[in-house]
Amino acid sequence: MAKKAFYITTPIYYVNDVPHIGHAYTTIAADVLARWHRLNGEKVFFLTGTDEHGQKVEKAASEKGIETKQFVDMIVPRFVESWKTLNISFDRFIRTTEEDHKKGVIELIKKCHKNNDIYKGFYEGNYCVPCETFYTEKDLVNNNCPSCGRETKIVKEESYFFRLSRYEKALLELYETSPSFISPDHRKQEIINRVKEGLKDLSITRTSFSWGIPFPLDEHHVTYVWFDALTNYLTGIGWPSKKFASYWPADIHLVGKEILWFHTVIWPAMLMSAGVDIPGTVYAHGWLTINGEKMSKSKGNFIPPSELIRKYGVDGTRYGLLRDIPFGMDGDFNEPQLIKRIHGELADSLGNLLQRTLTMVHKYCNGVIPKPGIFGDDEKRLQDVANNLFAHLNEHIQKLEFHKGLETIWSFVAQCNKYVNDQKPWDIHEPKRLNTVLYTLSECLRLIGHAVLPFMPSSGEKMLAQLGQKQKKLPLQFETNTSGKIAQPEILFSKSVVIDEPFSAVDLRVAIIKDIKPHPNADKLYVLEIDVGEKRTLCAGLRNYYSADELKGKSIVIVYNLKPANLRGIESQGMLLASQKADVVKILHPKGTPGEPVTISGMPRTPKQQITIEDFKDLKLKTSGTKVVYKDKPLQTSQGEVFSELDDAVIV
Ligand code: MSP
Repeated sequence: MAKKAFYITTPIYYVNDVPHIGHAYTTIAADVLARWHRLNGEKVFFLTGTDEHGQKVEKAASEKGIETKQFVDMIVPRFVESWKTLNISFDRFIRTTEEDHKKGVIELIKKCHKNNDIYKGFYEGNYCVPCETFYTEKDLVNNNCPSCGRETKIVKEESYFFRLSRYEKALLELYETSPSFISPDHRKQEIINRVKEGLKDLSITRTSFSWGIPFPLDEHHVTYVWFDALTNYLTGIGWPSKKFASYWPADIHLVGKEILWFHTVIWPAMLMSAGVDIPGTVYAHGWLTINGEKMSKSKGNFIPPSELIRKYGVDGTRYGLLRDIPFGMDGDFNEPQLIKRIHGELADSLGNLLQRTLTMVHKYCNGVIPKPGIFGDDEKRLQDVANNLFAHLNEHIQKLEFHKGLETIWSFVAQCNKYVNDQKPWDIHEPKRLNTVLYTLSECLRLIGHAVLPFMPSSGEKMLAQLGQKQKKLPLQFETNTSGKIAQPEILFSKSVVIDEPFSAVDLRVAIIKDIKPHPNADKLYVLEIDVGEKRTLCAGLRNYYSADELKGKSIVIVYNLKPANLRGIESQGMLLASQKADVVKILHPKGTPGEPVTISGMPRTPKQQITIEDFKDLKLKTSGTKVVYKDKPLQTSQGEVFSELDDAVIV
């Protein structure tokens, strides 16, 4: 039988909010593993996606005043876009609102039911709404949720239960016979101890809200979001259709440590009940923290991936997130350290090595990798290291020690740099010797180019392209007959990594005025209800210039990510833009759908989570003819340039 594909998954992320670098952290790590296995010549299936049901998502949508399905449809593209920008090579992006997924969940429930593992009862417990989790009295920390620290509430409702208690023994046996099922090792004992204390049956339906998969045994209930979500690992590869067998069992579920219990206790029990094989490994990594606290939207300490990408590029971001922190442990996000590494290790060390080598091959060998002469001791030493590079890398990657993997590559890069400095090719007059040195460097770089591919795919590809080399699969060795014509050297990693284009940080969007009233406490202000893909309220000082009727139904441009401000008792969620010349004020006229971004051609759009009014003023937007411009470049939507009635006016 053909070898099964290497199947790797990330958690499917809740869509109650947009992605942050905590989500990116897991997803990048999974991508490195997927790419490593592909480099190794294996067939790989890499699944990621979004967890869209449950009370938390329903609540987030209702807070925004949007219908839940419309809300999730708005958030999901933010995840897909982030992963595409970060070069995540997922094979499938699953959404739990897909029909096939829903059918699969229902099928799984039926199988568990057939096995006599589902019954009806009552549930009462301490429930944490944001985490969608019931906790026992014992679990609570200072009477609050042990995961997010917020208050829990006692909830009692009719519920269907899954007989988790029945699987206690089987689970303990699983941990015993498959020692790498719970990884890394230091997380294992805690799970084992908790299981040994005894397992309670699990409440798997809810009646208090409706946003979920209808429970197939009782239409008044919806399926508990975790029972729904975990099943994605099966439905994502086509289960219950037979095709899932080419991928299942999963080789590795990569998860954050806070959801290890769900993946190593509830999930295998569900699978045992349904008669499906158990995955190979569940690996729980540590948290990326900010000043020691877990990054999360609710704590207001979250960094969107776009912010790092804007400053350090895609590969700089991927490198920075994996370089320092041991993956299995918590680690604080340390930006000064990250900058040091990006400058020192990427630009100075690797970038320079490539640049110097390519320049010399151009200068001394007409841009063609030369044939080597006789290798001396220095070359043989370097070749030894080169020939062990991938074996060492493999050891580290198998253990998910990405920081050590990168350290191994960069230690080799340092040795190559030392070799250049020792050999001083620019002083060698004997052509054969010069060829040997430049060949050795080119060949080492070919190997380094491959080694960095899983971590920084586009830099690896660029390196190989510049060296005139094709991408190969492992095993890779130091060859003595590599040939190739190299390209003009190009800077691989620039040190001026912070492309600080202030416009990129601002989020301008098209909105429509749905309703408009005078502000009760301010003569000059209107209070607008707008549709910007979601409902928002904002205050605008237009009462001296427009009647309410003139404005109702108009399309406008707003600053979407402006820090909300309380204007005389009403929170303004953003700012309407207008042009002003002397004492004339006119709104701007964008064409486009509500929520659509207003952009500038060729300028990256990487909005910050929030900006201040000063940030906006610093842009000094103005009009020129009928256009609204930033540094002479017109603002536009997908349907054309934003129109202004006033020439030579300032934007306020
Ligand atoms: N929807 C569930 C998972 C269901 S899987 C069947 C969920 N979603 S989540 O949006 O909260 O994402 C949690 C996961 O995101 C974590 O397990 C981890 O992989 C990643 N991270 C979120 N914040 C993180 C950090 N601050 N640090 C590291 N990883 C983080 O739980």
